[in-house]
Amino acid sequence: MRLKNRVAIITGAANGIGLEAAHVFVREGAKVVLADFQEEAGNTAAQKLKEEGYEALFVQVDVSKKESVTHLIERTLDEYGTIDILVNNAGITRDALLVKMTEEDFKRVLDVNVTGVFLCTQAVVPIMAEKGYGKIINTSSVSGVYGNVGQTNYAASKAAVVGMTKTWAKELGRKGIRVNAVAPGFIETGMVETVPEKVIESLKKMIPAMELGKPTDIANAYLYLASEESHYVNGTVLHVDGGIIM
Ligand code: CAA
Ligand code: NAI
Repeated sequence: MRLKNRVAIITGAANGIGLEAAHVFVREGAKVVLADFQEEAGNTAAQKLKEEGYEALFVQVDVSKKESVTHLIERTLDEYGTIDILVNNAGITRDALLVKMTEEDFKRVLDVNVTGVFLCTQAVVPIMAEKGYGKIINTSSVSGVYGNVGQTNYAASKAAVVGMTKTWAKELGRKGIRVNAVAPGFIETGMVETVPEKVIESLKKMIPAMELGKPTDIANAYLYLASEESHYVNGTVLHVDGGIIM
């Protein structure tokens, strides 16, 4: 088992990529905290994993709120005693062309996708630093690396995630903490369902693999970066996008 007895917090784990990552991580022996805004879906997901005999806990969190993140960390420590892995996977879109984008939608995406990653990471680092071990995985996006029509807010947020990842890799490497990012391409989850069909068709033509990715493609990348196999990998952005960016 690649994560035996490791304690992992996965944000945004009630749906999509985060939910798949929770499944992959428990199968590899991790104790997983599914942290998400959506209480019902999160509870159902954690309950299902427990019934299958895995160690899992749901904690409701709004990653953009400091007090909520503090509660997440306290609840995790109460239940499992430590934190080894943080996957900053929670994220939102509020797509609109630049000229139509409201300031509110711009700021909300930055709040969740940037401030949320900042708050969760800041909260776990003292615990990881004290024991000289930790793995932090941030979720960027193809949009943050090369831009995307309709995603001024989201692209800005995912580019910020790359900047934070590299900064923290430099700050925290000496404390035994590894910080990396995954930059997914277009993955079949609820997030992509909002994209108009004609845009999806044009997207597929620019993906060398000629298909959208699956949540498991990203969950497996998270697993690699969370495991010992990536011991010497730090500050990298792993592109999992069927070859859109190369
Ligand atoms: N590439 C090229 N052109 C695009 C485009 C794209 N990805 N998306 C939209 N356009 C074009 C449209 O074809 C249209 O062109 P014409 O005026 O020549 O017909 C023009 O932009 C305006 O588009 P709409 O008529 O759809 O305008 P709208 O205001 O109703 O909607 C929009 C604009 C919100 C950007 C909408 O087109 C949209 O949702 N596009 C998809 C945005 C997208 O790709 N989001 C990714 C979501 S998944 C995700 O975010 C995960 C991740 O990390 C990648
Ligand atoms: P999703 O929409 O299926 O799941 C996102 C989860 O995050 C949801 O369960 C939602 O409740 C949770 N969430 C949203 N705001 C939250 C908050 N404030 N606090 C706590 N939880 C919150 O999306 P998906 O596709 O699984 O995305 C996961 C990550 O991958 C996101 O960061 C997304 O930006 C990123 N990504 C997704 C891609 C895709 O094509 N699906 C491509 C590139 C990146």
